[in-house]
Amino acid sequence: APLIPKTTKSTATFAKDKFGSVLIAEQYVASKPARDRSLVFGLKDEPTYLIINEDKSSLFTFALNAECSHLGCIVPWNEFEKKFECPCHGSTYDAMGNVLRGPAPKSLTLAHVDTDEESGKIVMSPWTETDFRTNESPWWT
Ligand code: FES
Repeated sequence: APLIPKTTKSTATFAKDKFGSVLIAEQYVASKPARDRSLVFGLKDEPTYLIINEDKSSLFTFALNAECSHLGCIVPWNEFEKKFECPCHGSTYDAMGNVLRGPAPKSLTLAHVDTDEESGKIVMSPWTETDFRTNESPWWT
C-alpha cells in the first residue's frame, strides 16, 4: 500500500450519504462488502467513490472522484467487469481509476480519506501530493 502523507485539515470535509447525513466510518464499513466501491458526497459535495479493502476491515485511505476526465460525466462502477465505465463516450477506468480506454485523457481524481478520531466520521481532503498510480504530480491541482 502507498504511504499517505498527512492531509490538509483546513480544506477537509465530512463524507455524506445521498440524504446529506455525515457518514460514520465504522458503520459504513460494516454496511458494505469487501472491495466495494460506492458513491458518496465528498469534497465540494462531488460524487466520490469510497473503497472498502480486501478483508472488509477498513476504508482505503484514498477515494476516487466519479467525474470522467473527458467531459465530466459521472462514471458508474461495473462490479461484474471490475471497471468504471463512462456512459457518455465509452471511456473505461480500472478499479484504481487509471484510464484503460479513452477518450478520457487522465485518471480519476484522488482524495484523501481519514477517520476523525473523536467522532468517527469519515473525513475527505484534497490530494495534492504525487499521484502514487503514475508517480507524477496530480493533474487536477
Ligand atoms: Fe466520459 Fe466523455 S465524458 S467519455
